[in-house]
Amino acid sequence: MPELPSTPLVGTVVHGAGRGRGLGFPTANLSPAPGTAVPPPAIYSGWLARPATGGVHRATVSIGTNPTFGDSTEVHVEVHCHDTSDDLYGERVELWFVARLRDTEKFATVDALLAAAREDVRRSDALLAAVTPPRAPAP
Ligand SMILES: Cc1cc2nc3c(=O)[nH]c(=O)nc-3n(C[C@H](O)[C@H](O)[C@H](O)COP(=O)(O)O)c2cc1C
Repeated sequence: MPELPSTPLVGTVVHGAGRGRGLGFPTANLSPAPGTAVPPPAIYSGWLARPATGGVHRATVSIGTNPTFGDSTEVHVEVHCHDTSDDLYGERVELWFVARLRDTEKFATVDALLAAAREDVRRSDALLAAVTPPRAPAP
């Protein structure tokens, strides 16, 4: 398995396709800053750190082209926060990767995707409970 980056992915929260909220799985879509390392497409567990508030949040991250929806060849970085539903649009945030959970899949149905995503969040939460979060970033 390739190593996870030891430095955070730094990015700005931008508008995605807007589907996540309707699915009951809101995600913050990140536009990575130039030069920031983006891990290969997969589902990951990690921490979302917000310099704007000093908050550090448990997160499950999808990096990929959303093949279930046949979106495009564009790779999206989408973060589902477990413990905040704050609107993060326009914020610059840091993403610290803790573990790779699984490959991205093309699901036959949206229900199958949602079931897998719920299980990802459950596993991610258990993993994160066992590790120390990064220090809150300076604004
Ligand atoms: C925990 C999690 C797991 C995901 N796994 C997959 C996946 O395996 N396959 C896929 O096509 N999309 C996956 N996605 C991405 C969803 O397709 C995407 O979040 C949804 O389409 C909303 O996109 P939007 O924010 O651009 O509206 C996952 C998202 C999350 C949060």
